[in-house]
Amino acid sequence: MRRKLYLETFGCQMNVLDSELVLGQLRAQGYETVENRDHADVILYNTCSVREHAEQKVWSRLGELRDRKQADPGVVIGVIGCMAERDGTNIFKKFPHVDVLCGPGELDKLPRLIHNAVVTSDEATERRSDEGKRQVALMGASVRRSSTLAAAEDHLEMLDLSRSVSPGDDISQAYVRITRGCNKFCTYCVVPYTRGPEVHRPPTNIIDEVKMLVDAGTVEVTLLGQTINHYCFEHGDGRKTTFADLLYQIHEAVPDLPRLRFVTSFPRDFSDAALDTMRDCSRICRYLHAPAQHGNDRILKLMNRGYTVGQYLEFVARARERMPDVSIASDFIVGFPTETDEEFEQTIDLVRECRFKNSFIFKYSPRPGTTAIERFEDNVPEDAKRVRNNRLLAEQQRVCEELNREMIGQTVDAMVEGESKLVSRRTSKVELGWERRASGATTQLVARTGGDQVVCFQGDLSLKGQIVQIKITDARNMTLFGQPLTAPLVSPAMKSF
Ligand code: SAH
Ligand code: SF4
Ligand code: F3S
Repeated sequence: MRRKLYLETFGCQMNVLDSELVLGQLRAQGYETVENRDHADVILYNTCSVREHAEQKVWSRLGELRDRKQADPGVVIGVIGCMAERDGTNIFKKFPHVDVLCGPGELDKLPRLIHNAVVTSDEATERRSDEGKRQVALMGASVRRSSTLAAAEDHLEMLDLSRSVSPGDDISQAYVRITRGCNKFCTYCVVPYTRGPEVHRPPTNIIDEVKMLVDAGTVEVTLLGQTINHYCFEHGDGRKTTFADLLYQIHEAVPDLPRLRFVTSFPRDFSDAALDTMRDCSRICRYLHAPAQHGNDRILKLMNRGYTVGQYLEFVARARERMPDVSIASDFIVGFPTETDEEFEQTIDLVRECRFKNSFIFKYSPRPGTTAIERFEDNVPEDAKRVRNNRLLAEQQRVCEELNREMIGQTVDAMVEGESKLVSRRTSKVELGWERRASGATTQLVARTGGDQVVCFQGDLSLKGQIVQIKITDARNMTLFGQPLTAPLVSPAMKSF
């Protein structure tokens, strides 16, 4: 009988991609996925540590599983991803019923860990909580030494290379990693500790992966890296492939790829060459997610971001000079230690001045192991954090609505992602799948522009995964509304597997 696997993913796009790779590996070993964890033999959480709240969600899931493990000691419970790496074997102290821990830098070992855990649990279910039976693969401090970096690259590269697409997978939008890890050590952030040092993937491997996906029907590829514009692959013979080179090479080598985008940009060291490439290559989306984090130089310095507000504005100006229509999004942290009201106001000013398309706004969360938690007291009261969070959100919404209203009357190319949530919440799945299609009736669809704006329009669900031309007719509550003008511009070309 095939073993049943339940996998829930938290955190960023890197984790979504890791989960996809893990699923591929485990399916190849004969696992089948289930949507209800009560029916699973193996339960995995791919976790995030970036803020405490992200970890709390996993703690509550693990807490819920205590009774299940007691009733069914054969079930294998695994914590993988950034929280496994950050919290390490402490997780066993809080949750003794966890069997497997695997950090993001060790995921190639996961199938073996799970296999060992399953075998052990089959053999001696009563002794499942013995420490010796637990399966652990963490990068720990070891991989941070540069001598082991090459090995770390190799085994993870194999995991990325193992990617395959099966018939039935929804791959109209796909992520492709170009860089692992991060070297920035912003004082508040766990990522350099959980994902290790920055490692750039060979350009040929990246291009081959993009080609494979496009051959299988992918319409939009999003390249992933924590500071993606720092991409620079050294070939070992003096040649280098920069981020600008890579963008250009993908654009030229895969002419059938309708849309190429990338996240996340670091506001410093974004070369003119990369901006020129975005301007000149028509299938690269004019969208930059370049988190500013704050609008005050003193706080930016405490965060160790390595740029000033002036330098950030200069970057935005260089981008808009080349691409007046470029859409820019940001992240902000409010309530960083010692942030005053006046300093917070400067973050509001920055949102107004840069006219961000949107901002992801977070309340500062002190993270164990980071420099900020050691050096600074978390001294902005929770109430003040909440007020600042809401004020910044309101300002960002105002800017977004203003930008959206300016788009009324324009025609955009947008990729259809599916049915609008409002509609799908109102309707049952059965009704969506069959009755609508059979009757040919239309529904409210959600599509995304190259600049990452969301557009709702009335259309047939069969348009999912296609790029359509839409005339914007209205803008309400941060959403654009429009009418489709033509037949789809691009449909996923399903080729043989
Ligand atoms: N590499 C990206 C961000 C990755 S983490 C970059 O540097 O831009 C995603 C976002 O989470 C960050 O941009 C930051 O705004 C937020 N974040 C990270 N650590 C945080 C913390 N300790 N508290 C609150 N927000 C945090
Ligand atoms: Fe974290 Fe800074 Fe690296 Fe982004 S650049 S992942 S915020 S350390
Ligand atoms: Fe979270 Fe790890 Fe991503 S901490 S944001 S899942 S890199």
